Amino acid sequence: MRVNRRMTATVATAAVLGLTLAACGGGDTGGDNGGEGGGEQVEVFTWWAAGSEKAGLDALVGEFETQHPDIEFVNGAVAGGAGSAAKDLLQTRLQAQDPPDTFQAHAGAELLDYINAGQIEDVSADYDTWGLKQAFPQGLIDNLTVDGKIYSVPANIHRANVVWSNTKVVKEAGITADPKTLEEFFAALDKVKAKGIAAPLAIGKDWTQLMLFESVLITDLGPEKFTGLWNGTTDWNDPLVTKAINDFKTLLTYTNTDRDALDWTDAEKLVMDGKAAYQLMGDWEAADLDAKKFSDYGWFTFPGNGKTFQWLADSFVLPKGAKNPEGTKCWLKTVGSAEGQKAFNTKKGSIPARSDAVPADYPKYQQSAMADWKKDKIVPSCAHGAACTLGQNNDILSALSQFSGSQDVAKLQSALGTAMKPS
Ligand code: GAL
Repeated sequence: MRVNRRMTATVATAAVLGLTLAACGGGDTGGDNGGEGGGEQVEVFTWWAAGSEKAGLDALVGEFETQHPDIEFVNGAVAGGAGSAAKDLLQTRLQAQDPPDTFQAHAGAELLDYINAGQIEDVSADYDTWGLKQAFPQGLIDNLTVDGKIYSVPANIHRANVVWSNTKVVKEAGITADPKTLEEFFAALDKVKAKGIAAPLAIGKDWTQLMLFESVLITDLGPEKFTGLWNGTTDWNDPLVTKAINDFKTLLTYTNTDRDALDWTDAEKLVMDGKAAYQLMGDWEAADLDAKKFSDYGWFTFPGNGKTFQWLADSFVLPKGAKNPEGTKCWLKTVGSAEGQKAFNTKKGSIPARSDAVPADYPKYQQSAMADWKKDKIVPSCAHGAACTLGQNNDILSALSQFSGSQDVAKLQSALGTAMKPS
């Protein structure tokens, strides 16, 4: 067993005080136990490397260190929005049987990829030990469960279908109310354009375009038919999908032409700098704008989505072959704890996955999201793994990146149908 100085000191202190360092897991963890109470190091693999994402991770790590002072957190973060670089590197490491001790995975279809590939462990026994089955809403538990087994611990719920605005730019363009329909949105974008802002709707590369396209699909198909696109009950050849692609094409005419080279934070900067009025992005943007001390922002649900909450959830897993499975369980225990969720989510822009959070503890945006989560229609996100697998997501992104150049509506519609064809 490797021993580091920090652990030796903690174990020695515990011995002097006559304390026993409790193990974190409930069931058999298998593998080389990294020491009593998890000891040694835990490598946590995410794509939260900057801004509010890093602030959220840092806050969670702070809570982890309070709860488990004997374990050293090792930051395995790889920069790039939505895991654009991290996911490839993770696959390489999983193929090489060199997994991190834990990694970030989206609840839903994406998680299923890792489960089907036999890459992650069942942690249901720990759910019982830690009381998590009562802590999380049943619908979320269902999205984490396969054949009665639960494979990850969710850290949060994010909302994808939100438009963020620069309120000064919007006001100067004479827009007095947030657009409620696509037609009103086009009219608002025209008003901003008339003020000399060439690209009023800021956007970035592939996955950010998929987010915008999904929002348009929700508007044109409605929540039920939209959900059916991912579970096979709505045909991708539906004329409403053609309409949505055409509407998406129109929206792209209002966006920055360098879109394929930008990450979400670059597009966010266009809004902050007043070079654009609006950006569709997940609600990690709320916390990021706060962290960047930009206060002239507003938000509204994507026009035409009505009372629909498009969700995604970040969760953490125990990979098969992790070097320190007991330490990973301590990390998972913190992630699922009320204190861990509060520390993380107040900084991340998301709302806690646990049902026992107190809204007053959260910033204004999250308070509104918590209320919507309880009453809105819930639909899943493909861009962030709730609705589609990693393979389907890859195919859809390459179809969209071709469309960004070609603008060929029929070709995109057929490529989407192929990407989602049952195998
Ligand atoms: C999502 C992730 C969010 C946020 C976002 C932008 O996939 O679930 O937590 O980090 O990417 O990077």
